[in-house]
Amino acid sequence: MNNRKLSAMQPSDGVVWISGASSGIGAAVAMEMAERGWKVAISARSSKKLDKIAALHQNINAFECDVTDREGMSQTAQKIETEIGSLAMIIANAGIYLPTHFPEFDVSVFDESFDVNLTGTVNMIAAAYPFMIARKKGQIVLVSSVAGYNGLPTSAAYGSTKAALLNMGEAMAVDLAKYGLSVNMVAPGFIDTPATQKNTFHMPALMDVTKAAKAMVDGLEKNHTRITFPKRFTFWLRLLTFLPRQLFVRLLSR
Ligand SMILES: NC(=O)c1ccc[n+]([C@@H]2O[C@H](COP(=O)([O-])OP(=O)(O)OC[C@H]3O[C@@H](n4cnc5c(N)ncnc54)[C@H](OP(=O)(O)O)[C@@H]3O)[C@@H](O)[C@H]2O)c1
Repeated sequence: MNNRKLSAMQPSDGVVWISGASSGIGAAVAMEMAERGWKVAISARSSKKLDKIAALHQNINAFECDVTDREGMSQTAQKIETEIGSLAMIIANAGIYLPTHFPEFDVSVFDESFDVNLTGTVNMIAAAYPFMIARKKGQIVLVSSVAGYNGLPTSAAYGSTKAALLNMGEAMAVDLAKYGLSVNMVAPGFIDTPATQKNTFHMPALMDVTKAAKAMVDGLEKNHTRITFPKRFTFWLRLLTFLPRQLFVRLLSR
């Protein structure tokens, strides 16, 4: 579904800032958007990796910053505004997947997941929001996951952050439309990135990261509220949300 009354931001509106863009989806989306004429600011903790990506395209500029550092994120937003241009779009993409290993209950897995995936996203929004709301213009993009649709094995920490992002984004989309700001939520299936290359299990419909980046940017250009890919996989996970929950738990816990 589209954010119908609001148009998608265009390269002429200003800069897109992407967090977690030193590898994987973030880096591929940075390249795709730079190719489509956007001025792109990329951030992450690894400055060496960021510099390598920035060297690939003249439209890309690197800013080293940890999303859990609220003050640092705010300073980065200010720097981008001063050095590159007005923040037209932010893509809160930085994320980590830490599996839970029950029966062990390790609170640090929850703490770290919540800090990066959730608070990190809030920190990025908080950093860019004052600029966007002052102009009554902007697009806020939250990278969630299909793992946010249902409770999945080993995903109590990761999945709950991604479910929270879907809810947070939807609520913000409802509240911010009248102020001229769009909110888009991205829920990818399995994408081939350094994060998933660590997985030892079979990943159905694993998608090439460049194709995933194209699908994501196509969805952002149409200002779709929720963007998912590859559809042949994400459709089935969405369908599972309609199963009676008792049946779902019985099936998945086998
Ligand atoms: N790959 C998939 O199948 C898939 C599916 C659904 C959703 N997603 C989501 O897509 C996003 C990108 O994932 P990916 O697969 O591309 O993983 P990735 O290649 O591991 O990239 C993760 C990015 O996040 C950055 N990051 C991690 N912690 C950070 C922190 N504290 N501060 C700033 N940046 C930080 C990393 O950079 P540094 O280490 O340099 O900081 C890296 O650039 C994540 O939110 C993930 O949950 C991925």
